[in-house]
Amino acid sequence: MSAPVTATTATSPPNPPPPRPLNVAAERARTPGSFTGHHFNAAGAALLANGTVEAVIDHLRAESLSGGYEAAKHAAPALEDVYARTAELLGARLEEVALVESATAGWQRAVSALRLRPGDRVLAARSSYVSSALHLLSVERDHGVRVELLPNGPDGAVDLEALEAALRAGPAALVTAAHVPTSSGLVEPASSIGALTGAHGVPFLLDATQSLGQLPVDMGAIGCDLLIGTGRKFLRGPRGTGLLAVRRPLLDRLAPEAPDVRGAVWTAERTWELVPDAKRFELWEAAHALRLGLGAALTALGTLGVDTVSRHLTALAATLRERLSALPGVYVTDPPAAGGAIVTFVVDGLDASEVQRQLTYRRVHLIAVPAGHGRWDMDHRGLTKVVRASVHVYNDQDDLDALVEAVREIVCLQGRGTGSGAGRQE
Ligand SMILES: Cc1ncc(COP(=O)(O)O)c(C=O)c1O
Repeated sequence: MSAPVTATTATSPPNPPPPRPLNVAAERARTPGSFTGHHFNAAGAALLANGTVEAVIDHLRAESLSGGYEAAKHAAPALEDVYARTAELLGARLEEVALVESATAGWQRAVSALRLRPGDRVLAARSSYVSSALHLLSVERDHGVRVELLPNGPDGAVDLEALEAALRAGPAALVTAAHVPTSSGLVEPASSIGALTGAHGVPFLLDATQSLGQLPVDMGAIGCDLLIGTGRKFLRGPRGTGLLAVRRPLLDRLAPEAPDVRGAVWTAERTWELVPDAKRFELWEAAHALRLGLGAALTALGTLGVDTVSRHLTALAATLRERLSALPGVYVTDPPAAGGAIVTFVVDGLDASEVQRQLTYRRVHLIAVPAGHGRWDMDHRGLTKVVRASVHVYNDQDDLDALVEAVREIVCLQGRGTGSGAGRQE
C-alpha cells in the first residue's frame, strides 16, 4: 500500500535550500598568492590553493623516493578519482572523459579524429579561440573543408536564427563555439546551440576552457557531444593539465589519428584495437603529479559547489564592470551578452599592454589580449587589444578597489601627459 499523500506534499514542493555564501576569507587563507598582490588573471592561470600545490609536491616526492612507475601504482586510486571528479563536473560518464595536457591538445585530437573530408561544412562561432581557428583554417586549406563563420546577434552572441538557417541549408559536419571566449566576458548560449545541433544531428564541440569552474557546465543539459577544457584557469588546477570529453555514441565513431599505447592495444603485426573509452585520446606518458593537483582542485571546487562559486564571481565581475564603466576615459568592451567572471576594457589613448604594465607596477596583475588571440571576434568589433581582468574566489572588495583606483590613476596621469606614450594605440 502506498503512503497517503498529504495536501502539503501534493501542492507545495519543498523550498530549495538557500544558496550557500562563499567564505572569501577562507579561500584567501588557503591561497598564499592572494596576499602578494591583486591577482585578476584567473582566465590566464588562476592562483593555486595550498591543497593543490601539496598534492603535486607530495607525488613528486613519492616519485623521487620510490620511482615514477611505483609511485603511479601507489597513486592509482587517486589518479582514477580525477576521472570521476571530472565526469561529475561535466555531467558526463566516467568512460567519456580523457585527461590531456591542455585544451588545445584535446581539441586537436578530437577534431582530427572527426576525419573531416573535402566539402564538409564546419560552422564556427566568432568566439572560437585562436588555436582552434588556426586548426580549422589549416584543415580548410589542406583538405578542402568549408569553414563557415556564424554571425553574431546584436547582443554579441551567436545568432541562433542564423545558426538554424545554416543547419537547414544542408548537412554540417561540426558546430563549434567557445562557451566564454578569450577576448571578452561573453557567455555564448551553449544550451540553445546544443538544442539546435541536437535537432539536426550535427556534432557540437563546446570549448569550455574559459567557463569550466566559473559557470555550471553540464554536457547533458547543454547538449554538446565534445567538450574541451584546461586545468589552469577557473578550475584552479596546475598548468599542463587539460581535458577532453566525448559523449557516446559519437565516441564509438571517433578514432584518434595517431593512436598511442595508452589508447590502443597492438594485437598483431598490422592490427590494433582502440580501448573502448575516451582514454583512446590519451598519451601513456603523463604528468601524474599535475593530474593529482588537478584532482585536488576539482575536489575543492566540488566542496564549494560550482553554483556558489559562479554566483560570487558573476556578482564580483558585474560590480567591476559597473565601476570601470563609470571611470572617464575607460570603456568596457564586453558585449551585452556578457556575464561570468571576465571583464574586458580599454583606456582611451593607451595601448592595453601599457595599461597592463602600469597596473603591474601597482601590483595589480592581469593581461592584455591582442586581436591575434581572437581575430574572428576582435577584428569584427574593431578592437586591436583589450585589457582583461578576471576574478576568482580569492578576490575581494579590496582587490576591486585596488584595480579601479589604479586604473583611475593611470587615466589621470595619461590626461596630464605624464603617462608613458610608448604603447599608444595607432
Ligand atoms: C577560449 C579558449 N579556448 C582554448 C584555449 C586554449 O587553452 P590551452 O592553452 O589549455 O590549450 C584558451 C586559452 O586561453 C581559451 O581562452
